[in-house]
Amino acid sequence: MRAWIVLAFVSMLTLTASAQPTIPAEPFHDTLRGPTPLYEEAKPPLIAPTENRDVIRSRAYAQQPPTIPHKIDGYQLDRNANRCLACHARSRAEESGAVPIAISHYTDRAGETLGHLSPRRYFCTQCHVPQADIKPLVGNTFTDLADVSLPPAPQPKKK
Ligand code: HEC
Ligand code: HEC
Repeated sequence: MRAWIVLAFVSMLTLTASAQPTIPAEPFHDTLRGPTPLYEEAKPPLIAPTENRDVIRSRAYAQQPPTIPHKIDGYQLDRNANRCLACHARSRAEESGAVPIAISHYTDRAGETLGHLSPRRYFCTQCHVPQADIKPLVGNTFTDLADVSLPPAPQPKKK
C-alpha cells in the first residue's frame, strides 16, 4: 500500500515538472505593445491623423454603415445635442451638402417608420466611424464578395 502511494507521488511530480509554462519566442512581439517586455511600460504611439479627404468611400458590403470621410473632432454628440444632425438631417442636407440620413434611420425596432430620427439611431458613432491614415496593426485579406471567384465544385466520380 505504501509503495503505491510513493509511486503516485513520484508520477505526480514528473507530471508537474513537464507542465512548465511555455515561454514566448524571443523577441516577444505583441501587436499593441510591440517588443516592450511585459514588466516595462510601452511608449504609446502618436495618435494617427484622421483621414479628412471629404470623398465618400465605397462600401465593402450591402448594409455596411458608411465610414465617415471627414473629421468629427469637437462635434458634440450626447443626450443634449447631436452635431451630426445639424448637417445630416433631411431638412439640413440641401444647405450643408451632406448625405441625408437613410430611411432606415427613421424606422423603430417594431418596423414602424417614424416622422423623426429613431432613438436607436441617435448615437451615430455607434455605427459610423472616421478612418485613420495608418498602416493596419494586423494584416487583412478581406475580399469583396463581388471579387470572389470560386473554383468549380468537384464533380462526383463516374463509376
Ligand atoms: C458641417 C457639416 C457636417 C457635420 C457636422 C457632419 N457631417 Fe458627415 N458629412 C458632411 C458632408 C458634406 C459629407 C459628404 C462628404 C464630405 O464632404 O465629407 C459627409 C459625409 C458623411 C458620411 C458618408 C456618407 C456616405 O454615404 O458614404 C458619413 C457616414 C457621415 N458624414 C457621418 C457623420 C457623423 C456620424 C457626424 C457626427 C459625428 C457627421 N457626419 C457630422 C457634413 C457633415
Ligand atoms: C445602429 C447603426 C447606425 C446608427 C446608430 C446610425 N447609422 Fe447611419 N447607417 C447605418 C447603416 C447600416 C447604413 C447603410 C444602410 C442604410 O442606408 O440604411 C447607414 C447609412 C447612413 C448614411 C448614408 C445614407 C445614404 O443614403 O447613402 C448616412 C449619411 C448616415 N447613415 C448617417 C447617420 C447619422 C448622421 C447618424 C446619427 C444621427 C447615423 N447614421 C446613425 C447604421 C447606423
